[in-house]
Amino acid sequence: MELSGKRVLLIIGGGIAAYKALELIRRLKDAGASVHAILTAAGAQFITSLSVSALSGERTYQELFDLTVESEMGHIALSRAADLLVVAPATADLMAKLAVGLAPDLASTALLATDKPVLLAPAMNVRMWQHPATRRNLAALTRDGIHIVGPNDGEMACGEFGQGRMAEPAEILAAITAILKPVNLAGIRALVTAGPTHEPIDPVRYLGNRSSGKQGYAIAEALFNAGAETVLVSGPVALTAAATSKLVRVETAIEMRDACEAALPVDIAICAAAVADWHVEHPHTTKLKKPNAPPSLVLVENPDILAELSHHPTARPKLVIGFAAETGNLLVNAAAKRAAKGCDWIIANDVSTDTQGKSVMGSDSNRVHLLSEAGAESWPLLSKRDVAQRLTAKIAQFFGRAA
Ligand code: CTP
Repeated sequence: MELSGKRVLLIIGGGIAAYKALELIRRLKDAGASVHAILTAAGAQFITSLSVSALSGERTYQELFDLTVESEMGHIALSRAADLLVVAPATADLMAKLAVGLAPDLASTALLATDKPVLLAPAMNVRMWQHPATRRNLAALTRDGIHIVGPNDGEMACGEFGQGRMAEPAEILAAITAILKPVNLAGIRALVTAGPTHEPIDPVRYLGNRSSGKQGYAIAEALFNAGAETVLVSGPVALTAAATSKLVRVETAIEMRDACEAALPVDIAICAAAVADWHVEHPHTTKLKKPNAPPSLVLVENPDILAELSHHPTARPKLVIGFAAETGNLLVNAAAKRAAKGCDWIIANDVSTDTQGKSVMGSDSNRVHLLSEAGAESWPLLSKRDVAQRLTAKIAQFFGRAA
């Protein structure tokens, strides 16, 4: 069984989605995990500790200062005996407490006291999810390394429609498995491109794009942490050095292509960079001055690094993965891109702005679809780090390395 011997501490917050936590317990047990649960006071308004205990086969913890519990197992031990803490549903209130480090009850105390990974499955009204305070808390939690799965779009119990529905138990289980199941990529060589490229116009100006490099860096780190020898070729980004075997910093698409070529042979290539499609044929060697007429720039197409790696005559990686950043017709365009570029998998994401004018570019989470020969697989909204971890697990499967 996939999660044999793994111990999960499940914190059930208050929300109508609490009933799905019961289904999650059942699935975790079926997968071989043991489950201890903390039911918050708000959670207990929706489901009973009796039903939680009946499914988990363990006593359900409720109060911080329950002396019996403290003598059996204190809150510190409780939060550390687990391999993973899962909060489902994670309410706006629980997220806020964890983001600022408040610990007024057993659930928030366990979250603060743990030295283990934490996965949140947020569930709340769409306005609460979109509120600037929740956005700030989410950004802080992601920075702190907290894993996030969901929420999904859909109709909510409150009658409104939008993002805020808790991820389905199967999606939460997949996120748990990606965190807990060790993958071993030792001996595998990986190449990852990340960030934008800057194509000079003159010594001070360039053509560029809004790519932050976060997704590519997260992928390089996840592969490296799984034991792969990883070369990260990065365009200009504001991120600090990543945990990789080697980081090569470049500016232009041509430099990026050359750095990739120099890194070959590799077993996997993942092109997460937003490479500029064109460069200026003859960048000015001195700064263009305003009194001159607006310059006309002659643009020349850049090398397509993903297509070149996919069709490499002597050193084609065994697995080549590209990204398709689209603003419309996502799956159709992405499938066409996979065929046109000749890569094995494509990760499609919608980079159009949402109703708040926010784009996935630069944000900390990503909702992607993985397209391969086998078809399309849609993943729930995940932090970029969780997308990276899940992709690493898929890659491990491809190389027959899944534990
Ligand atoms: N890519 C690349 N080299 C380029 C352009 C793109 O390696 N010169 C890779 C990106 O890293 C990504 C994939 O190709 O993995 C798709 O990039 P995208 O910008 O979505 O597609 P384009 O090929 O630029 O097509 P278009 O802009 O027309 O959508």
